Order: sequence, then structure tokens, then C-alpha cells
Amino acid sequence: MPDLDIDFVRAQFPAFEEPSLQGQAFFENAGGSYTCRPVIDRLTRFYHQRKVQPYAPYEASRLGGEEMDRARTRLAALLGVAPAELSFGPSTTQNTYVLAQAFRQHLAPGDAVIVTNQDHEANSGPWRRLTQAGIEIREWAMDPATGHLDPGALAGLLDSKVRLVCFAHCSNLVGEINPVAEICAMVRDAGALSCVDGVSYAPHGLPDVRALGADIYLFSAYKTYGPHQGIMVMREDLAMALPNQAHYFNADTAYKRFTPAGPDHAQVAASAGMADYTDALYAHHFEGPAGPSGRANAVHDLMRAHEVKLLQPLLDYIGQKNSARLIGPADAAQRAPTVAVELAQAGEAAAAALAPHGVMAGGGDFYAVRALQALGIDPGKGVLRLSFVHYTHEDEIARLIDALDRVI
Ligand SMILES: Cc1ncc(COP(=O)(O)O)c(C=O)c1O
Repeated sequence: MPDLDIDFVRAQFPAFEEPSLQGQAFFENAGGSYTCRPVIDRLTRFYHQRKVQPYAPYEASRLGGEEMDRARTRLAALLGVAPAELSFGPSTTQNTYVLAQAFRQHLAPGDAVIVTNQDHEANSGPWRRLTQAGIEIREWAMDPATGHLDPGALAGLLDSKVRLVCFAHCSNLVGEINPVAEICAMVRDAGALSCVDGVSYAPHGLPDVRALGADIYLFSAYKTYGPHQGIMVMREDLAMALPNQAHYFNADTAYKRFTPAGPDHAQVAASAGMADYTDALYAHHFEGPAGPSGRANAVHDLMRAHEVKLLQPLLDYIGQKNSARLIGPADAAQRAPTVAVELAQAGEAAAAALAPHGVMAGGGDFYAVRALQALGIDPGKGVLRLSFVHYTHEDEIARLIDALDRVI
């Protein structure tokens, strides 16, 4: 495995050349990442040259439509799924909302859905509201001391009434990487479907969704170096079995069924830039050709290795601070570099204190209010969250630790 060429990586992000951002180390990536250059270039080109209704028989329109289709096809290939299985929506929250409407019609009173208290509200609240339709909601609760979600505890909740299990690949608060393939296999064996929130995982390397065995997998492009879109992968036979939520005449097309509104054409087209970026990372670091899944897997491992190397010193530093409670695992290999810390002071106050030191971080509840409550943390006080990705430089970690030393 080669080392990540950090200079090459950072050259793909205009934010690192932006004068107004110089001297600012970005540690709120889990809220939304910087956008890579190919996405910005495609977005600009679309607005300049193709901002017409797509799929009509004139050149600008044809090119726009083709670019939208290519974005879906190329991203699907990198994720190991068929093009018809990938759809775009305004955000992950809106995608789960629409999905929950479909399941409300699909399920019957007495059926059960399992949710966790580890998830962001996007993959929790819309499902919990199904109680209004007579559906039983069971909570798979995490360990209140560590935030760990134990698959053994899920086993005790699964029975023949359970139709759907919703959980996160990685919580945006706890950061621990859940064993998705193992959980999806358990769910499948119990005759139920899995809906996995991958929003906090995908920025750290695109997953092979087919290999994970998830029936539904969601993530947000704007946290994955792309435009402000939600991306949803759903097995095609499931997409065709769930009630259509789009215009009736679009019902035959799997990827249109859960996007009730017209999509944001320019952003969908620009999402192809995420595939350009993955391919550029592959070409720069690896020899020889590989298929889309092979390229995505190699880039995933490259990103992860860099992140794990930078993360461990930060975890070690926080671990020896009496004033800080680290949420989630202390071993970098088990988690994403999304590090929430409970302090005596409010999370937002700590973030504000870090800003003059050139550290851009966030504080608050991060819409994981149930997770905070489960961990015994007042959501009003919240946590400080320090989140980074593969483009983070080790000098920025040093700056962060130095700033933390003055603030916490
Ligand atoms: C883990 C997780 N899931 C879901 C969401 C919601 O994503 P979106 O903003 O695309 O609705 C977020 C956003 O912060 C998140 O962190």
C-alpha cells in the first residue's frame, strides 16, 4: 500500500488555495467536506453551457442529460451496484423521509421496525413516526458508557415480526465503525431488510455496497467532496416492490421512484466529479488497470491508512486529558476520525475558543440528540466535535493538539 500523497490530494481542493482560508485548519468535515475541483469544474460548466432542461433533442440538453446519467452510472459502479439502484435526492434526511412514507404504505399494523439510539435523527425520527400507522418500533440501544452498538443485543430483538432494521455504518457522534456486513447478514437471516446510514462513513472511502449486503445504503455527497445531494442505493427488486413515491408515469424506473421532485440537474451532473476524483487518486497512487470496485476499494484503503495514522495521536492526547471524555473507541483502527469530546464547558463554547487559534471545529448536538441523552450528556451542553478526512495534513493535527492544550 503506497502512502497517500497529501500534496497531490490537497491540490485537488481549491479551498486549500483560497486566501481567506489560509491558516485555518478545518475540523468540521463531518458537517460538510470541502468540494473537490472536478465537482466545482463540472458544476461551473453545467451552469455556463448546459443550464437547459435536460433530455431534449438539442445539443446543450443532450449533453446535460448524458452527464447526469454518467454521474449515476459511474458512482454506482464505484459502489459495486447497478445504475438503476442509485438515486439522488436533495439530502439524506429527505431520502429517509420519502422512504419512510413508502414503508408506511408497505408495512401492516403489527409489523416491527428496529431503530437505534446511536443514529443521527435522519435515520431514526422518520422511522419512529411509523408508530402512528400501528407499526411497532423497537430500539436497539447502545452501551451508555461507551456508545458501542452490540450486534448480540440486536439478536435479542429480531423475530418474525421485524421487517426492517435501520442503523448507521458509523455514528456521527460515536465514530465507531459498525460491522455492517455482519449485521446485514443477521438481519437477512431473520427475514428482514436493512437500511444503513453511511453518511459518516462514505467520506472515509466509498464502500462496496453489494459486498456489505445492505438493502438500502444512504450517504450525502456534500460530505463526500461533492455537491449538496443525498445519494441512496437500493436493491432494484426492493425499489420495485415498495410503493412508488414519484409521479405515476415514472413508476417503471427504479431510480425515479423515491425522488418525488425533479432533481437538481446541475448537482446531479457535477456528482460525476466525485468519480473523477476517486479515479484520479487511483491513477496517481496505483499501477495498472482495475475495475471500478477495485479502484474504489484501493482508494478507500489508501484514505483509511492515512486517517488512522493521523488519528491515533489525537486520540492518545485526548485520552490522557482528565478534563475530556472521549466518546467512542480509543483505537483509531476501530473508528472514523469523527471525534466527539465531552468537556466541562459547552461544546459550542469550546469550538468558539478554538477559532482564534486557527481551528475550525463545531460544538453542539449534531442532530444526534438521542445518542447524547443515552450517553448521559445534556444535549443543551453538547460536545466538541473534531472531524477530519484524508486531505487533512499532519501539521494540522499538531496545530489542533496545540490549540486544545490551551482551551480544554
Ligand atoms: C450520520 C448522519 N446521517 C444523516 C445526516 C443527514 O444528512 P443530510 O444533511 O444529507 O440530510 C447527517 C448529517 O449531518 C449525518 O451526520
